[in-house]
Amino acid sequence: MRYIRSVALSVTLILLMAPVTLKAEEMMKRELFGRTKWGTNIEKITLINKKGIKAEFITRGATFCAMKVPDREGKLADVLLGFDKVSGYESEGNQYFGCIAGRVCNRIGKGQFAIDGKKYQLYINNPPNHLHGGNGNSLDKVVWNADEVKCDQGGSVKFSYHSPDGEENYPGNLLIEVTYTLTDNNEVRIEYYATTDQATPVSLTNHAYFNLAGAGSKTVLNHELTLNADHYTATDETLIPTGEIAPVKGTLLDFTTPHLIGERIDKLTDTPWLGYDHNFVINRKGDGLVQAAKLKDPQSGRVLTVFTDQPGIQFYSGNFLFGQKGKQGKEYAYRSAICLETQHYPDSVNKPDWPTVILRPGEEYHHVCVYAFSVD
Ligand code: BGC
Repeated sequence: MRYIRSVALSVTLILLMAPVTLKAEEMMKRELFGRTKWGTNIEKITLINKKGIKAEFITRGATFCAMKVPDREGKLADVLLGFDKVSGYESEGNQYFGCIAGRVCNRIGKGQFAIDGKKYQLYINNPPNHLHGGNGNSLDKVVWNADEVKCDQGGSVKFSYHSPDGEENYPGNLLIEVTYTLTDNNEVRIEYYATTDQATPVSLTNHAYFNLAGAGSKTVLNHELTLNADHYTATDETLIPTGEIAPVKGTLLDFTTPHLIGERIDKLTDTPWLGYDHNFVINRKGDGLVQAAKLKDPQSGRVLTVFTDQPGIQFYSGNFLFGQKGKQGKEYAYRSAICLETQHYPDSVNKPDWPTVILRPGEEYHHVCVYAFSVD
């Protein structure tokens, strides 16, 4: 019996590893996903690599909505939270699942900032602050254009959106492009670009929620996390940074060596956060891509490694998930997924000493994030 099982396992592994030659149309599929409540078509784009692994995206919010990756035995599970229908994405249950968040992701204190002496007031959607770009037309809610792109690294889809001057009270016409590439090594590379015709703050991120045991599994507290961060941005009780770059050493935020997420989470009782919801300062020398985080599900062996060129990463432990029903009717329980969002530090627009988020005409915003899936 054990012999049969090990032969079956070897055959599965050989099949998964065997190189496959794909025609262009087999690397990408484009179809209608559904319609918004206003009747706009939402498309779904599926990228398929040589291993047969698929990554799915929809044009609402340029959302990364499904990714099935193998465990140690080659068994596939979709590790991303999401919905089967557009109405799910339009519902209260959608807490920024897989979307592009912006124009400025995370929080801006009291929604206020000034550029070159001119004051701006943004929408307060997370009282008393502005969160993830505002209200009705934040980047997670609008419909993006999608173009297929051929590249050597794998199939890509390029989403683009023109955010007009004054949208969500942000200044300037902002042209944004977000390209997702699925490589044959099961990496999803996200490349962000933006240009403007007026000085304006920009900090984009992807807000994917991961559970490496499969979306809908009860908890993420049994996942092991490592963060390449010796410091974090200390905040007030409304999660606005005080300006202090504080050491993680000796605190519950020290993930410089691997720790289970559940190991210390309940000790965060004297914080207002109900769990992890912190921005970490990524250790880096120079500007290039560095490993920011590594998440592992010890049971399945699935691993997610996050690389980025950004200064910060928000680790959010799904503290506001409430059992909403997602794909295939699965429930997304409290703390059953985590986000690892690469970005600038929150409220940077009001912190002149921090890396700037102000984009000026003639400059280009550029950000790379790689979500690499593997097994251990
Ligand atoms: C923030 C959380 C917020 C969540 C909303 C995260 O990026 O850090 O505070 O509640 O997004 O889904």
